[in-house]
Amino acid sequence: MKNKSAPIGVFDSGVGGLTVAREIMRQLPNEKVVYFGDTARVPYGNKSKETVTRYSRQIVRFLLSQEVKTIVIACNTASAYALDEIEKEVDIPVIGVVKPGAAVAVQATSNGKIGVIATEGTIGSKIYSKYINEIDPSASVVGKACPLFVPLVEEGLWQDPVTDEIAKRYLTELIDIGIDTLILGCTHYPLIRSTLGRIMGEGVTLVNPAYETARELKGLLEKEDLLNSQAAKLGDNKYRFYVSDAAEKFKGFANSIIKYGILSAKTIKIEEY
Ligand code: DGL
Repeated sequence: MKNKSAPIGVFDSGVGGLTVAREIMRQLPNEKVVYFGDTARVPYGNKSKETVTRYSRQIVRFLLSQEVKTIVIACNTASAYALDEIEKEVDIPVIGVVKPGAAVAVQATSNGKIGVIATEGTIGSKIYSKYINEIDPSASVVGKACPLFVPLVEEGLWQDPVTDEIAKRYLTELIDIGIDTLILGCTHYPLIRSTLGRIMGEGVTLVNPAYETARELKGLLEKEDLLNSQAAKLGDNKYRFYVSDAAEKFKGFANSIIKYGILSAKTIKIEEY
Protein backbone atom coordinates (compact mmCIF):
# COMPACT_ATOMS: atom_id res chain seq x y z
CA MET A 1 0.00 0.00 0.00
CA LYS A 2 1.15 3.53 -0.73
CA ASN A 3 2.36 5.46 2.26
CA LYS A 4 1.01 8.93 1.53
CA SER A 5 2.21 10.31 4.85
CA ALA A 6 5.84 9.36 4.13
CA PRO A 7 8.24 12.28 3.63
CA ILE A 8 9.61 13.70 0.40
CA GLY A 9 13.38 13.22 0.14
CA VAL A 10 15.30 16.25 -1.13
CA PHE A 11 19.05 16.42 -1.64
CA ASP A 12 21.75 18.79 -2.77
CA SER A 13 25.51 19.15 -2.60
CA GLY A 14 25.03 21.48 0.39
CA VAL A 15 22.90 24.46 1.29
CA GLY A 16 21.80 25.56 -2.22
CA GLY A 17 19.01 22.99 -2.44
CA LEU A 18 17.31 24.76 0.45
CA THR A 19 15.96 27.21 -2.15
CA VAL A 20 14.16 24.22 -3.69
CA ALA A 21 13.09 22.77 -0.33
CA ARG A 22 11.66 26.19 0.62
CA GLU A 23 9.52 26.20 -2.51
CA ILE A 24 8.33 22.62 -1.85
CA MET A 25 7.36 23.62 1.70
CA ARG A 26 5.48 26.62 0.34
CA GLN A 27 3.59 24.83 -2.41
CA LEU A 28 3.02 21.56 -0.55
CA PRO A 29 2.42 22.62 3.07
CA ASN A 30 0.96 19.23 4.09
CA GLU A 31 4.08 17.33 3.19
CA LYS A 32 6.98 16.18 5.36
CA VAL A 33 10.50 16.74 4.02
CA VAL A 34 13.79 14.97 4.71
CA TYR A 35 16.65 17.11 3.39
CA PHE A 36 20.22 15.95 2.91
CA GLY A 37 23.03 18.43 2.15
CA ASP A 38 26.40 16.94 1.27
CA THR A 39 28.33 19.66 3.08
CA ALA A 40 31.48 17.51 3.41
CA ARG A 41 31.84 17.04 -0.34
CA VAL A 42 30.45 20.30 -1.78
CA PRO A 43 30.98 21.63 -4.47
CA TYR A 44 29.73 19.14 -7.05
CA GLY A 45 29.97 21.73 -9.83
CA ASN A 46 33.63 21.08 -10.63
CA LYS A 47 33.60 17.28 -10.11
CA SER A 48 33.28 14.53 -12.72
CA LYS A 49 30.07 12.80 -13.73
CA GLU A 50 31.32 9.53 -12.18
CA THR A 51 32.00 11.15 -8.81
CA VAL A 52 28.74 13.10 -8.68
CA THR A 53 26.80 9.98 -9.67
CA ARG A 54 28.52 7.91 -6.95
CA TYR A 55 27.77 10.56 -4.33
CA SER A 56 24.17 10.83 -5.52
CA ARG A 57 23.68 7.06 -5.29
CA GLN A 58 24.89 7.05 -1.68
CA ILE A 59 22.49 9.86 -0.80
CA VAL A 60 19.60 8.10 -2.51
CA ARG A 61 20.33 4.97 -0.42
CA PHE A 62 20.29 7.13 2.72
CA LEU A 63 16.98 8.76 1.74
CA LEU A 64 15.46 5.35 0.97
CA SER A 65 16.49 4.25 4.48
CA GLN A 66 14.32 7.16 5.70
CA GLU A 67 11.39 5.63 3.79
CA VAL A 68 10.76 8.61 1.54
CA LYS A 69 7.93 8.32 -0.99
CA THR A 70 9.66 10.33 -3.70
CA ILE A 71 13.04 11.98 -4.30
CA VAL A 72 13.82 15.48 -5.58
CA ILE A 73 17.37 16.03 -6.80
CA ALA A 74 17.56 19.68 -5.76
CA CYS A 75 20.96 20.24 -7.36
CA ASN A 76 21.42 21.15 -11.00
CA THR A 77 24.78 19.42 -11.32
CA ALA A 78 23.49 16.15 -9.80
CA SER A 79 20.32 16.40 -11.92
CA ALA A 80 22.46 16.88 -15.04
CA TYR A 81 24.77 13.97 -14.28
CA ALA A 82 22.86 11.41 -12.24
CA LEU A 83 19.08 11.70 -12.74
CA ASP A 84 18.85 9.28 -15.68
CA GLU A 85 20.75 6.53 -13.84
CA ILE A 86 18.97 7.01 -10.53
CA GLU A 87 15.53 6.99 -12.13
CA LYS A 88 16.31 3.53 -13.51
CA GLU A 89 17.62 2.22 -10.21
CA VAL A 90 14.87 3.07 -7.74
CA ASP A 91 11.20 2.18 -7.73
CA ILE A 92 9.85 5.46 -6.36
CA PRO A 93 9.41 8.62 -8.47
CA VAL A 94 12.52 10.80 -8.84
CA ILE A 95 12.63 14.29 -10.32
CA GLY A 96 15.41 16.78 -10.93
CA VAL A 97 15.44 20.55 -11.31
CA VAL A 98 16.73 20.88 -14.89
CA LYS A 99 13.75 19.66 -16.93
CA PRO A 100 11.20 21.88 -15.14
CA GLY A 101 13.49 24.92 -15.51
CA ALA A 102 13.98 24.26 -19.23
CA ALA A 103 10.22 24.02 -19.81
CA VAL A 104 9.49 27.38 -18.15
CA ALA A 105 12.27 29.10 -20.09
CA VAL A 106 10.76 27.97 -23.40
CA GLN A 107 7.41 29.42 -22.32
CA ALA A 108 9.02 32.67 -21.17
CA THR A 109 11.15 33.57 -24.18
CA SER A 110 9.84 35.77 -27.01
CA ASN A 111 12.98 36.06 -29.13
CA GLY A 112 14.12 32.42 -28.71
CA LYS A 113 17.43 33.44 -27.10
CA ILE A 114 17.84 31.78 -23.72
CA GLY A 115 20.84 32.14 -21.41
CA VAL A 116 21.79 29.60 -18.75
CA ILE A 117 24.11 30.35 -15.86
CA ALA A 118 25.25 27.38 -13.79
CA THR A 119 28.26 25.42 -12.54
CA GLU A 120 30.97 24.20 -14.92
CA GLY A 121 29.52 20.68 -14.71
CA THR A 122 25.98 21.68 -15.65
CA ILE A 123 27.14 23.94 -18.50
CA GLY A 124 29.59 21.29 -19.79
CA SER A 125 26.83 18.65 -19.82
CA LYS A 126 24.73 20.84 -22.17
CA ILE A 127 21.69 19.38 -20.42
CA TYR A 128 19.64 22.60 -20.52
CA SER A 129 20.14 22.94 -24.31
CA LYS A 130 19.13 19.31 -24.74
CA TYR A 131 15.83 19.69 -22.88
CA ILE A 132 15.09 23.13 -24.36
CA ASN A 133 15.72 21.98 -27.92
CA GLU A 134 13.57 18.89 -27.37
CA ILE A 135 10.67 21.28 -26.77
CA ASP A 136 11.69 23.99 -29.25
CA PRO A 137 14.40 23.01 -31.73
CA SER A 138 14.68 26.60 -32.97
CA ALA A 139 15.58 28.11 -29.57
CA SER A 140 19.19 29.14 -29.17
CA VAL A 141 20.74 28.45 -25.79
CA VAL A 142 23.91 30.11 -24.51
CA GLY A 143 25.51 28.74 -21.36
CA LYS A 144 27.89 30.53 -19.02
CA ALA A 145 29.63 28.86 -16.07
CA CYS A 146 29.77 31.19 -13.06
CA PRO A 147 31.87 29.28 -10.52
CA LEU A 148 32.49 32.25 -8.21
CA PHE A 149 28.81 32.75 -7.41
CA VAL A 150 28.62 29.70 -5.12
CA PRO A 151 31.33 30.87 -2.66
CA LEU A 152 29.98 34.45 -2.78
CA VAL A 153 26.52 33.23 -1.80
CA GLU A 154 27.92 30.96 0.91
CA GLU A 155 29.90 33.89 2.32
CA GLY A 156 26.63 35.80 2.60
CA LEU A 157 27.64 38.45 0.01
CA TRP A 158 24.13 38.48 -1.50
CA GLN A 159 24.13 42.28 -1.90
CA ASP A 160 27.69 43.42 -2.21
CA PRO A 161 29.84 45.43 -4.65
CA VAL A 162 32.13 42.40 -5.12
CA THR A 163 29.19 40.25 -6.25
CA ASP A 164 28.05 43.08 -8.56
CA GLU A 165 31.46 43.31 -10.16
CA ILE A 166 31.79 39.58 -10.75
CA ALA A 167 28.21 39.30 -12.01
CA LYS A 168 28.89 42.06 -14.56
CA ARG A 169 31.91 40.19 -15.87
CA TYR A 170 29.99 36.93 -16.21
CA LEU A 171 26.81 38.41 -17.64
CA THR A 172 28.12 40.95 -20.16
CA GLU A 173 28.41 38.43 -22.97
CA LEU A 174 24.83 37.24 -22.38
CA ILE A 175 23.58 40.85 -22.46
CA ASP A 176 25.52 41.45 -25.69
CA ILE A 177 23.95 38.40 -27.34
CA GLY A 178 20.50 39.81 -26.55
CA ILE A 179 18.99 36.97 -24.52
CA ASP A 180 15.51 37.75 -23.17
CA THR A 181 15.38 34.86 -20.66
CA LEU A 182 17.99 33.75 -18.13
CA ILE A 183 17.80 30.42 -16.30
CA LEU A 184 19.30 30.47 -12.81
CA GLY A 185 20.68 26.97 -13.34
CA CYS A 186 22.35 26.57 -9.97
CA THR A 187 20.52 26.27 -6.68
CA HIS A 188 22.50 29.12 -5.08
CA TYR A 189 21.70 31.75 -7.67
CA PRO A 190 18.12 32.60 -6.62
CA LEU A 191 19.70 34.07 -3.48
CA ILE A 192 21.39 36.75 -5.61
CA ARG A 193 18.40 37.17 -7.86
CA SER A 194 18.05 40.91 -7.23
CA THR A 195 21.68 41.55 -8.23
CA LEU A 196 21.31 39.40 -11.35
CA GLY A 197 18.01 41.08 -12.29
CA ARG A 198 19.44 44.56 -11.89
CA ILE A 199 22.44 43.76 -14.10
CA MET A 200 20.44 41.96 -16.79
CA GLY A 201 17.83 44.74 -16.94
CA GLU A 202 14.05 44.72 -16.99
CA GLY A 203 13.72 43.18 -20.45
CA VAL A 204 15.17 39.86 -19.29
CA THR A 205 13.01 37.28 -17.49
CA LEU A 206 14.83 35.35 -14.77
CA VAL A 207 13.75 31.72 -14.41
CA ASN A 208 14.15 30.01 -11.05
CA PRO A 209 13.72 26.25 -11.66
CA ALA A 210 12.83 25.72 -7.98
CA TYR A 211 9.32 27.08 -8.44
CA GLU A 212 8.52 24.88 -11.41
CA THR A 213 10.14 21.84 -9.78
CA ALA A 214 7.80 22.14 -6.80
CA ARG A 215 4.85 22.53 -9.16
CA GLU A 216 5.90 19.46 -11.13
CA LEU A 217 6.35 17.55 -7.88
CA LYS A 218 2.82 18.45 -6.85
CA GLY A 219 1.46 17.20 -10.19
CA LEU A 220 3.46 14.00 -9.84
CA LEU A 221 2.19 13.30 -6.31
CA GLU A 222 -1.38 13.90 -7.49
CA LYS A 223 -0.94 11.57 -10.44
CA GLU A 224 0.61 8.83 -8.30
CA ASP A 225 -2.01 9.32 -5.59
CA LEU A 226 0.75 10.14 -3.11
CA LEU A 227 -0.35 13.52 -1.74
CA ASN A 228 -0.46 13.54 2.05
CA SER A 229 -4.11 13.74 2.97
CA GLN A 230 -3.44 14.81 6.58
CA ALA A 231 -1.53 17.99 7.24
CA ALA A 232 1.77 17.17 8.95
CA LYS A 233 2.22 19.52 11.92
CA LEU A 234 5.36 21.57 12.44
CA GLY A 235 7.41 19.91 15.14
CA ASP A 236 6.09 16.44 14.28
CA ASN A 237 9.44 15.75 12.69
CA LYS A 238 7.88 17.52 9.76
CA TYR A 239 11.13 18.89 8.38
CA ARG A 240 14.30 16.94 9.08
CA PHE A 241 17.76 18.04 7.97
CA TYR A 242 20.86 15.88 7.59
CA VAL A 243 24.33 16.84 6.44
CA SER A 244 27.68 15.12 5.97
CA ASP A 245 29.63 17.80 7.91
CA ALA A 246 29.44 21.07 9.85
CA ALA A 247 25.84 20.77 11.03
CA GLU A 248 25.89 24.00 13.08
CA LYS A 249 27.06 26.10 10.16
CA PHE A 250 24.40 24.51 7.96
CA LYS A 251 21.75 25.25 10.56
CA GLY A 252 22.68 28.95 10.64
CA PHE A 253 22.53 29.23 6.87
CA ALA A 254 19.32 27.21 6.63
CA ASN A 255 17.60 29.50 9.11
CA SER A 256 18.40 32.49 6.91
CA ILE A 257 16.59 30.79 3.99
CA ILE A 258 13.80 28.77 5.58
CA LYS A 259 11.76 30.72 8.06
CA TYR A 260 10.27 27.87 10.08
CA GLY A 261 13.04 27.87 12.68
CA ILE A 262 15.24 24.89 11.95
CA LEU A 263 16.21 23.58 15.33
CA SER A 264 18.55 20.82 14.39
CA ALA A 265 20.59 19.35 11.61
CA LYS A 266 22.19 15.98 12.14
CA THR A 267 25.54 14.84 10.75
CA ILE A 268 25.59 11.36 9.24
CA LYS A 269 28.36 9.26 7.67
CA ILE A 270 27.17 9.30 4.09
CA GLU A 271 30.07 7.13 2.83
CA GLU A 272 28.54 4.22 4.75
CA TYR A 273 25.48 4.16 2.50
N1 DGL B 1 23.97 22.76 -5.92
C1 DGL B 1 24.87 22.96 -7.03
C2 DGL B 1 24.07 23.10 -8.32
O1 DGL B 1 22.91 23.46 -8.32
C3 DGL B 1 25.77 24.16 -6.83
C4 DGL B 1 26.84 23.98 -5.80
C5 DGL B 1 27.87 22.97 -6.17
O2 DGL B 1 28.72 23.19 -7.07
O3 DGL B 1 27.84 21.91 -5.57
O4 DGL B 1 24.60 22.85 -9.37
